[in-house]
Amino acid sequence: MTDIQERLATGKGKFTPRYPELTTDPVSYEDAISPDFFQAEREAIFERSWLYVGRSERVARPGSYFTRELPGGLASIVVARALDGTVRAFHNVCAHRGNKVVWQEHPQDESSGSCRQFQCKYHGWRYGLDGQVVHITNEGEFFDLDPSLLRMPPVAADEFAGFVFVNLADDPEPLRSSLGERIGELEAYPFDRMTQRYGFSTRIEGNWKLAIDSVCEWYHPPYVHARFIDKDISKAEKMVPPVDAYHYDLFPPHMLTSVPGPPPLPRREPGTAGPARHDQRWVYRLFRAGLFGPDDVPDIGPAPEFLNKGRIKSWGNDQFWLFPNLSVQIWARNYYITYTYWPESVDSHIYEIDLYFVPPANASERLAQEMVVDSTIEFAMQDVNTIEATHSALKTRRQTQFHLSDQELLIRAFHSYVRQAVAEHQASTSTNGGAA
Ligand code: FES
Ligand SMILES: [Fe+2]
Repeated sequence: MTDIQERLATGKGKFTPRYPELTTDPVSYEDAISPDFFQAEREAIFERSWLYVGRSERVARPGSYFTRELPGGLASIVVARALDGTVRAFHNVCAHRGNKVVWQEHPQDESSGSCRQFQCKYHGWRYGLDGQVVHITNEGEFFDLDPSLLRMPPVAADEFAGFVFVNLADDPEPLRSSLGERIGELEAYPFDRMTQRYGFSTRIEGNWKLAIDSVCEWYHPPYVHARFIDKDISKAEKMVPPVDAYHYDLFPPHMLTSVPGPPPLPRREPGTAGPARHDQRWVYRLFRAGLFGPDDVPDIGPAPEFLNKGRIKSWGNDQFWLFPNLSVQIWARNYYITYTYWPESVDSHIYEIDLYFVPPANASERLAQEMVVDSTIEFAMQDVNTIEATHSALKTRRQTQFHLSDQELLIRAFHSYVRQAVAEHQASTSTNGGAA
């Protein structure tokens, strides 16, 4: 019996005491409601961390590109695959008079496409796929121009496991080393086979960290999601796996939640809906899919060894939390979801959900995927209401100390990593300031 099995078997899985530096004390949520902290967090974290901006499939070939408007005015960038096959990113601003270079119908909208050069719509300056200026209209009329110095300002960009990241710092730590060994293992997963994407995004009137808190514990489902589980809360409570069925792990500043889930239904006879579970709603039976994925699971070979390290018997998914604002959830039924949280202000953020499946082979597989998407978004929107309610109540500051249970370990850890990153950045800038 492994250590984790032993702790699960006793029903006394105590994760938090393994990390004495996190303590078991009550916590403050000032970091979610203070405008000053928001500003500090933006400088220390969002302007210096590797941020996930899209899948590599979006820039599959040299010349493919997409733009991103990173919320809260963080940055407006172009991501492109250069002729040498590497992914490049640059700020979407022209060296002539500052026009936004790449956009289509509406300048504020994101766009994508394929080209050899980007041409500014204002006076026709052109840029290569590496952001370097390659054409200046009526160049002879300018004074002392050195075209080799003119470009769309570069942004550090790199790929990992088909995820494209950018970093707004001038000289960031390499992406791989910032992800660390344990996240590095994700590379063994066949993300590139799951190219059927369903995306959704919305604005949430609450701090971005509160939204992360709501997904990295499974203490709330019988209450927040009661209507989906069972209207009778006492029944809903019984249908949710016990707290010690979950597994938590920290590899700072990244984290993992592993979650149990129901096994898929047996294969069906062709032309029938297949057998039902007694507790299953008609719509799930008809579509053979639900919150935990499709029942007809695509074959993608054996699961890589890095998954389900807690050895949960009926494993549902692993939710990897990549600091600061990305969750990659790998599901037992062979699909994955990314959640991204983009702060706009202390009390609002943009929440993006993207689900990726092996492309459906027929209409019923497609409908099953749609059912998973709808169930996932419905659950997520139930969480959103609560996040807005929590933020509005925290803001009153009538309670200032909050209590986290053992299974809320990741919340304790995540807020501490955020505070630590801010403190370290502030210490380093004040040292530099002192030296200057
Ligand atoms: S602003 Fe881009 S060419 Fe003039
Ligand atoms: Fe939830």
